[in-house]
Amino acid sequence: MKKSFNIAVLPGDGIGPEVMVEAYKILNIINNEFNFKINTREFDIGGIAFDKFGTPLPKKTLDGCIKSDAILFGSVGGKKWTCLSRDKQPERGALLPLRRFFNLFINIRPIKLNNDLKQLSPLRSGIIKNGFDILCIRELIGGIYFGLPKGRNTFNKKNISAFDTEIYSTKEIERIAKIAFQLSLQRNKQVCSIDKANVLESSSLWREVVTTVSKNFPDVQLRHLYVDNAAMQLIKNPNQFDVILCSNLFGDILSDECAMLTGSIGMLPSASLNKNFFGLFEPAGGSAPDLKGKNLANPIAQILSLGLLFEYSLNLQHIARYIELSVIKTLQKGYRTLDISDGKNYINTNQMGTKIAKTLSEIIKNENHIISKNI
Ligand code: IPM
Ligand code: MN
Repeated sequence: MKKSFNIAVLPGDGIGPEVMVEAYKILNIINNEFNFKINTREFDIGGIAFDKFGTPLPKKTLDGCIKSDAILFGSVGGKKWTCLSRDKQPERGALLPLRRFFNLFINIRPIKLNNDLKQLSPLRSGIIKNGFDILCIRELIGGIYFGLPKGRNTFNKKNISAFDTEIYSTKEIERIAKIAFQLSLQRNKQVCSIDKANVLESSSLWREVVTTVSKNFPDVQLRHLYVDNAAMQLIKNPNQFDVILCSNLFGDILSDECAMLTGSIGMLPSASLNKNFFGLFEPAGGSAPDLKGKNLANPIAQILSLGLLFEYSLNLQHIARYIELSVIKTLQKGYRTLDISDGKNYINTNQMGTKIAKTLSEIIKNENHIISKNI
């Protein structure tokens, strides 16, 4: 019998459902061509789940995720739901609790400059002539996002104060630092840890613990940068970075900056994993409500997120390589969605998904051909 995997698919709001349709095209090809079977089950999440069931994270959805081998997530959020109470909002009531529930403390965002899209980067050609390939490792379930206390003191209508707590323990820093060092071993063996240790207590501990963990990885070169300097260095010379290791908030900010350096946030995938590499895979760009229903969104981030799902949660690295290669080749052929086009010559979401799926089957067929010739 074929080995099988179960994926919980959560299309969500905004462009989520449209780009998910394109990820299914890729899954279909993989199901037809390989000796394993991917079963999918869809569940509601975010604003759409709130509209149907009064909660952004219904129990049925959570149960479906618990029973799965991995979660493929679209995006959540939109104007319609911003005025709801915090626990009903799509981000704070669904995405963040999911990350917490499954202990997804590792967030991985690979940020590579595509050779065919260099002209989209806001950086001057001299700065990016050698390209860049950065792996952003972000701590995802600690720090100021979740630290307590968090709240408001209302003295009177005109005098309110609000506060959040940036807090990290040795254990939390150790486990994410280990991941960054381990992953760097498969790359250029350089880790740059980001903090604000000249001001923040939590950052001083971060720096100490990362330094201690680095002693177990003598082959890896570690350096530390203050976050303000890191934001500047990324623009000055992104090619100086290999793995960057960040707290939750700093990683959120810097990963958006890195994404823009590649030209479009519509291309950036994201993997959120627990210690067993069970994970949730999502485009980093969000629900883009202004593009919703227009068949204009770029499905590449969703398709590359599916690639990361194969790589990390299903441990099928060759499938991840095929998916990545099919995106690269489709771009090489000159196909562009609006966000990465000159504004005149572009194809729509459906067409881009179909082109990538077609390229994927060509690559697989070609590979089989080479293998059978060699036997
Ligand atoms: C991201 C997003 C989320 C975050 C939001 C939607 C809560 O910006 O994944 O980067 O801040 O983590
Ligand atoms: Mn973000």
